[in-house]
Amino acid sequence: MRRPIVAGNWKMNLSQAEAAALVEQIKPAVTLDEAVEVVVCPPYTALARVHDELRRSNIQIGAQDVFWEPKGAFTGKVSVPMLRDAGCTYCIVGHSETRGRFGTNTIDEALRGYFAETDRTVSLKIRALLEYGIVPILCVGETMAEREAGRTESVIEEQLGGALGELDEAEIGTVVIAYEPVWAIGTGMTCDAKEANRVCGFIRSQVEANADAESAEDLRILYGGSVKAENAGELFAQPEIDGGLVGGASLEAAGFIKIIKSAQASTP
Ligand code: PGA
Repeated sequence: MRRPIVAGNWKMNLSQAEAAALVEQIKPAVTLDEAVEVVVCPPYTALARVHDELRRSNIQIGAQDVFWEPKGAFTGKVSVPMLRDAGCTYCIVGHSETRGRFGTNTIDEALRGYFAETDRTVSLKIRALLEYGIVPILCVGETMAEREAGRTESVIEEQLGGALGELDEAEIGTVVIAYEPVWAIGTGMTCDAKEANRVCGFIRSQVEANADAESAEDLRILYGGSVKAENAGELFAQPEIDGGLVGGASLEAAGFIKIIKSAQASTP
């Protein structure tokens, strides 16, 4: 039985005080719940403050990105040991925004290079995170152009191979994967639940091809891309979807709590 995860990706939002106020509201809804794992991913500047606020709660903390070297002359970067120190147990890697695959978003083409994550850097980050016991949430997904060209599976296969290719079977089993179709992120265009389920099943079969059946069966695969209180129930009811990576809707307590409740309702 896979334990669902609901992870809130706050992206570049919220001051420390706003972040503290948000988790203060979410906390009572999850403190006693064991059926669903709840994770919040604040910006770096709010990690330590959120960690303080979440002492004695079941909510876990994730970072939105990391650099793979443990320390040194890497101005502007944050290492895995620093994330541990700030209380993180999860870290998002390979998000389409850090990969510069902005799809239908409006960011200027010329600026996308600033985010140029590759499958190789994703793989280095995953290796570094696993070394320190932080669980990577690996994001994969196709743009609308890739979907329309019938390339959804091949794009995802390539992203999975690049990110997980150097891990052994046991390590692969500890990673969390988020299927995030780029065209669904921040657009309100949620992927149809059955289609999201189909692609998550494809991801599981890919992992099975590179690891053992048990790791593939235990692997938690989240869906992300315009998850809201209104559609979370249908998405989480799908057998291959083990929770969600939630952006915009995680910034508002009442809606995020409803999403958590939908995940709870999907467990037997
Ligand atoms: P969204 O973002 O829920 O705002 O679409 C999801 C994500 O980018 O992880």
